[in-house]
Amino acid sequence: MSSNIAPRKVLERLKPYSPGKPIWELQEEMNIDYVVKLASNENPFGPSPKGIAAISAELQGLNRYPDADTVYLKTAIADKLGVETDQLMVTNGADELITLISSTYLDEGDEIIVPYPSFSEYDFGADLMGATIVPVKLEGDFQFNIDHVIQAVTDRTKLLYICSPNNPTGTYLAKEQFEKLLDAVPEHVLVILDGAYSHYAEAEDYTDGLEFVKAGKNVLVMQTFSKVYGLAGLRVGYGIAPSHIAQTILKVKEPFNVNSLGQAAAAAAVQDDEHVLMSKKRNKEGAQMLYNAFEELHLKYTKTESNFILLQLGPDAEQLYEQLLQKGVILRYGNTWGLPEYVRVTIGTEEENEFFIKQLKSILLNK
Ligand SMILES: Cc1ncc(COP(=O)(O)O)c(C=O)c1O
Repeated sequence: MSSNIAPRKVLERLKPYSPGKPIWELQEEMNIDYVVKLASNENPFGPSPKGIAAISAELQGLNRYPDADTVYLKTAIADKLGVETDQLMVTNGADELITLISSTYLDEGDEIIVPYPSFSEYDFGADLMGATIVPVKLEGDFQFNIDHVIQAVTDRTKLLYICSPNNPTGTYLAKEQFEKLLDAVPEHVLVILDGAYSHYAEAEDYTDGLEFVKAGKNVLVMQTFSKVYGLAGLRVGYGIAPSHIAQTILKVKEPFNVNSLGQAAAAAAVQDDEHVLMSKKRNKEGAQMLYNAFEELHLKYTKTESNFILLQLGPDAEQLYEQLLQKGVILRYGNTWGLPEYVRVTIGTEEENEFFIKQLKSILLNK
């Protein structure tokens, strides 16, 4: 039966999200057993053990709906961060938070400002609502130019995203620059600091934005349990904002958006400092291992404050990306961000990094 039900016009703008290829898919395609996935910036050292223990205790209660207000988890986060529970929004991954923010604030013709290249879901949220995306290019070795960001603000600007550390470049915005931005933007603009990778940042002048929320600024800090906490499969993210903003955004949330296993695991993981510290330490060691290999191979990379590295492979990047796939290494090809000469490499375990380096060397040195 044919149908003539017209979808909303703005849906024509939506670009599908391109996730990293799953391990099983490559195993089947190439008929190989050993596959290393360094494509989605997950924590390669596994989930928080405290998070796993909390899930086991929750299993018997799966016949019940989850807590619609995520009270237990909000209390755990509020205690950890020193904020009030009414400043928190807990969501089905940070992805859902981006959609909720977009549907709360964006009408057709409104504008969002996004430094470019960055995380694609900000654009998705804007496209979904028919809003206009105003990209501001990162400059030099992918640094933020805050003056250009400020110049892009108009009467129609509603949201201004700063992803710091930025995905896919690993670069960050210094605290003093963030402060300059906040002082410059008018009150009709909500500044969103996406701190999905904040735990990995070590630069002395880095800010995760929390202090500015606490100071009552028009700032929403976005966070996720998918990265350092190692719970990507459970889909839990959250935001922290002045309470009037948080409460407005919560109006558009589905009642049971965060499943009960996710709530329990996240509440335990947020207190699992040991797992966070271990993950950060090993990530740093892994970054050094990859830097050394890239330098040996005379490859250019951008120094990272995160758990991934943007690597410049040159005009053959796509071919190299494909060759690595055939050898069982999944990276993310830079074309997604308009960077056809680059790949993004998630920092893996020592064994994974070693395997990747070995395969990269075998391709580059035996050509
Ligand atoms: C910068 C950034 N923000 C948000 C997210 C989404 O996180 P979640 O898994 O919580 O939806 C990601 C995921 O890759 C990300 O890279």
